[in-house]
Amino acid sequence: MAVLRSLMFAFAALATTWTGTAAPAAQTMEGGWHGNYFPNVELTTHDGKKVKFYDDVIRGKVVAINFIYTSCGDVCPLDTAHMRQVHTLLGDRVGKDIHFYSISVDPDNDTPQALRRYMRTFDTGAGWTFLTGKIEDIVLIQKKLGLRIVDIKKIRDHDTRLIMGNERTSQWIKRSPYDDPTILGNILSSTLHNHTGTQVGNLASYEKAGSVKNLSRGQYLYRTRCASCHTFGGGDRLGPDLKGVVGARDRVWLTRWIKEPNKMIAEKDPLAMELMSRYRNLPMPNLSLGDDEAAAVIHYMSEQDKALADQK
Ligand code: HEC
Repeated sequence: MAVLRSLMFAFAALATTWTGTAAPAAQTMEGGWHGNYFPNVELTTHDGKKVKFYDDVIRGKVVAINFIYTSCGDVCPLDTAHMRQVHTLLGDRVGKDIHFYSISVDPDNDTPQALRRYMRTFDTGAGWTFLTGKIEDIVLIQKKLGLRIVDIKKIRDHDTRLIMGNERTSQWIKRSPYDDPTILGNILSSTLHNHTGTQVGNLASYEKAGSVKNLSRGQYLYRTRCASCHTFGGGDRLGPDLKGVVGARDRVWLTRWIKEPNKMIAEKDPLAMELMSRYRNLPMPNLSLGDDEAAAVIHYMSEQDKALADQK
């Protein structure tokens, strides 16, 4: 009976938390996914320390894990910026009862030194460990975490979803890194601590949240692609405060910058070079926006400027 109950519990946990396809779980006596399911492969931290994935990285912990590579110029910087926002919300709990890990899918190039450089560029905080290892081992970890494996030779196409879990209770959750940082923060601070931890950020109630049906395309793009690095009148984040930028910059320059900053950086555009040197040489990522999308974001930014001017 006890065995049956624990099996049912494990199934319930699977049904409610995993949203994607995952490999079937190996059950332990207590149910859930533990050392007989997760591989104990060796990884190397950004400090060059050797660690075991199961024993040292996840065992008994609440964790947030994503996969990146440091030369990635498109989605990884955005994912890292989003994760950094979650980190900021959780504050000094990270490293204590919540652990952040970013694992490289490009171990040939991502040496501990390259990982440390990336951490400096993104100004990542304490309790967030970057890891590298053998590609086969990293692929195995991805599989066991229920991530989609495309082709290990095409490292750029990796699954960027964020995995959050409590290894002790075997509760695992997979979310888009574009999700609201407050929601992700609360999964880590409260949900995965059996709903006992304190809530973080301003979680507005549904009554107060209002309607989102009027969210314009520009606003949606700004919130999901830009807001983790920029504010509007709220000061610098990873990138500059964008207040007044639409009025200050030449429109052709601005449109191209939003669409293909990487090319302008490669061409050593003088303004791009100057801005980069002010922001720890963090290159703004190419977010693959089309003409219409860039125009929608610029329109949204000019509306924000008007709204700020009207407040005065
Ligand atoms: C990963 C962080 C990141 C993301 C995401 C990001 N940016 Fe940036 N952005 C930067 C950085 C850093 C700079 C400064 C230049 C540099 O270092 O490349 C910058 C510069 C800019 C500038 C130039 C500011 C000026 O003074 O002229 C604009 C405009 C801009 N970003 C708009 C956007 C928009 C719009 C989005 C979303 C579609 C976006 N950025 C997404 C990091 C980011």
